[in-house]
Amino acid sequence: MEKQMPQTENRERIPWQADRPAKTLRFDLTTYFGDCQSLVNQALEGALPKKEVFPSKIHEAMRYSIFAGGKRIRPILCIAASEACGGGRREVLPVACALEMIHTFSLIHDDLPAMDDDNLRRGIPTNHKVFGEATAILAGDALVSQAFVLLGRLGDTHPDPRRVLQIIHDIALATGSLGMVGGQLLDLDSEGKKLDLPHLQRLHELKTGRLITVSITSGAKLVSDSVEKIAALERYGAAVGLAFQIADDILDIEGGVELGKDIGSDQANNKATYPSIVGMEQARKTAHTLGKEAMGSLKDFGEEADPLRALASFIVERKK
Ligand code: IPE
Ligand code: IPE
Ligand code: MG
Ligand code: MG
Ligand code: MG
Repeated sequence: MEKQMPQTENRERIPWQADRPAKTLRFDLTTYFGDCQSLVNQALEGALPKKEVFPSKIHEAMRYSIFAGGKRIRPILCIAASEACGGGRREVLPVACALEMIHTFSLIHDDLPAMDDDNLRRGIPTNHKVFGEATAILAGDALVSQAFVLLGRLGDTHPDPRRVLQIIHDIALATGSLGMVGGQLLDLDSEGKKLDLPHLQRLHELKTGRLITVSITSGAKLVSDSVEKIAALERYGAAVGLAFQIADDILDIEGGVELGKDIGSDQANNKATYPSIVGMEQARKTAHTLGKEAMGSLKDFGEEADPLRALASFIVERKK
């Protein structure tokens, strides 16, 4: 799979980091991304039924979208949160893979004719264009189920199964009607309407923010029981989660072919987005303010949180 490289490894360009020590400024996010992507992709390979396994069509459709590319930002945030709390990379890989499966399920369904009706995803035709709508719906369903198979298995090996149960609960909550699914409903209902800012913010927090936040908190909770650290990371997650969707809204207007998805889809569908409600300049400002907020929430962490700091910059500045 072609590696999806972040665009903002040069942190010296970013004003709110100017007072970070030189060591931090040199943090190599490109290498970090590449290393984490390789680990996650390998783990995903082993975590999904092979293409040949009966019924092979569904496994082919699941693998088609998972291995089409994708930045793996949720798994990487999960790993970075584990590291910020003194944990490792490999121990959170099953959670990281489960999050990527749930995210990919949300993308497959998001692209369906009944939703955003898009043709291109991760640089290739959308799942339903290749496999048909019914199989695409089922591939999404099967990915979310497989995610919980992985999470359930964690209980066999983790020293504290109660923590695993908590994480399963958190991820299910962030995925369902009080999280991503609820947000997607609000998104569809908003088409053609001029939402006010608090409603738009809520929509974005639900459809994108919750899964991003839980990617971070679950990585932390798996390796740490520090209430303070987890609360700080929850604040970090809320800020970068909203910033991520604002950047996505901006890229839908300004993005290039490297995005690998249909540009202008939001305008075509009359979506409520940050640029459409507050204007492009204010959307950018809000994303930057959220970036600062995210950095601020990491103030009590040392250099073990440098990956999270670099990821916050990437999320605000990204070009894909
Ligand atoms: C796109 O997510 C959908 C949103 C929630 C904004 P990503 O930008 O993380 O998509 P991939 O995984 O890299 O393809
Ligand atoms: C989708 O938001 C968020 C999901 C939960 C999938 P968008 O509809 O803006 O995502 P893209 O732009 O198609 O990736
Ligand atoms: Mg959508
Ligand atoms: Mg969409
Ligand atoms: Mg979008």
